[in-house]
Amino acid sequence: MSLLDKLDQVAQRRDRFLAFGRDPFNIRMDRIISATEAIIEGREVILVGTNNYLGLTFEPNTIDAAVSAIKNEGTGTTGSRIANGTYSGHQALEQEIADFLGRRSAMVFSTGYQANLGVLAGLAGPKDTILLDADSHASIYDGCHLSGARLFRFRHNSPADLDKRLTRLEGDTSGKLVVVEGIYSMLGDQAPLDEFVDVKRRHGAELLVDEAHSLGVFGDHGRGVCESAGVEKDVDYVVGTFSKSIGAVGGFGASDHPEFERLRYTSRPYMFTASSSPSSIATAMATLGQIKARPELRRQLWDNARSLYGGLTGLGLAIFAEASPIIAVKMPNEDSAVFMWNALLEAGVYVNLALPPGTPDGSCLLRCSLSAAHTPQQVAKVCGVFEQCLDALNAWQAEQSAAE
Ligand SMILES: Cc1ncc(COP(=O)(O)O)c(C=O)c1O
Repeated sequence: MSLLDKLDQVAQRRDRFLAFGRDPFNIRMDRIISATEAIIEGREVILVGTNNYLGLTFEPNTIDAAVSAIKNEGTGTTGSRIANGTYSGHQALEQEIADFLGRRSAMVFSTGYQANLGVLAGLAGPKDTILLDADSHASIYDGCHLSGARLFRFRHNSPADLDKRLTRLEGDTSGKLVVVEGIYSMLGDQAPLDEFVDVKRRHGAELLVDEAHSLGVFGDHGRGVCESAGVEKDVDYVVGTFSKSIGAVGGFGASDHPEFERLRYTSRPYMFTASSSPSSIATAMATLGQIKARPELRRQLWDNARSLYGGLTGLGLAIFAEASPIIAVKMPNEDSAVFMWNALLEAGVYVNLALPPGTPDGSCLLRCSLSAAHTPQQVAKVCGVFEQCLDALNAWQAEQSAAE
C-alpha cells in the first residue's frame, strides 16, 4: 500500500481525459508568440484563457526594465522580506501600489496566493471569525484555514445571507472579517460590493476584497471593482496579484489601517518564503505605469469582451453572468466539456477547461478570458471556431446515442 494509492481516482479521471485526445491539465506552450498567440503541438493557437487582460506581457519598455533589474540586482533575492530579500524596488513598488490605490500602505508578497494566505492569516486568529463567500478562490479558503479562525460560508454574492449570519453572531465579541472577490475567477460575475459594505457596516465587521481579476480591468482608473462600485473608503483591505493584468508574478495586500504594517512581523507567508525576484518587481512597477497611462486598454478589453459575449450567446451557448473579461461557457456534462475543449484546441483556440471540484455548483466550464491585445479578427475567429466545434460536438453526441 503506497500513500499515492488514494489518488487512484485521480489517475482514472486522467485516463478518461486522455481518451478524448490529451491531458487538459498538462498542456505545454511550446512557444509564446505574443500576448494572444502561442504554438501548441506544432499549431498556432489563439490564447483565450490566460488572464492577460491588458495584454501587457510583451511591452518593450517593461521588458527593458525587467532585464535591467536582472543585470543590476541578479536573478533572485535568495531571501525573505524580513531578512535579505527587501530591495529598494520592493519598497518602491509598495509605495506605488499604495499611491495607486489611494491607501496608507501596501505589502508585496511573492504570489497572489501568498498574499491571501498572508493577509488573512495575519489579520485573523483563532479567536476571530471569518465570513467568506462560498465561491471564494482556493487561496482564500487556504488563508482562512491557516488563520485558525472560526469560519462561516455565506451564499455566493448574497448580502442577505451574510446579513443573516452576522445577525446570528450578535453579542459575539470576536473580531469579524468578511471576505469577497471583486470579480469571481471562474464565472466572471461581480460582487455587489455596495450591498456588502452596507451589511458589514451595520454589523461592525471589516471587509476584505480580492481584486485579483479586477485590478486594471474595472474602474475609471483601473483600481478594480471597489473603484467602479464607489466603495473604496468602506473597504478595509484589498488583496491583488501581479499574475493577471500586471503580467508578472507576485501579489499584494493594501489598507488604510494605521497598524496594517504589523503584518510584516506576524504573517508567515510573508516571512517564511523568498521575496519576489527583481525582474518581477520591475515588471510590476512598469506595468502599473502602463495601467495609469493607457486607459484605452480597458476600453479595448471591454469591446473584446462584449464582442465575444455577443458571439457566443448568439450561438445559443449557456453563459454565466453578464459580459465581462471572463466568459464562462457552461457545458451540460464533463464529457461534452472535454470533447469541446479538445476540438477547440485542435481548431486553433485555447480556452481553460474548468471542472468540479474547482468550479461552483459542480459546473463544467469552458472558461474564456479576453485581452485588450486581441484583435477584432481574432475574436471573430474564436466565435467561428466555437460554431464549428459545436457542430462537431453535436455529430459526436449523435454517434454516441446511436451506439447505445
Ligand atoms: C481570486 C484569486 N485570488 C488569488 C489568486 C492567486 O494569484 P497568484 O496567481 O498570484 O498566486 C488567484 C489566481 O488565480 C485568484 O483567481
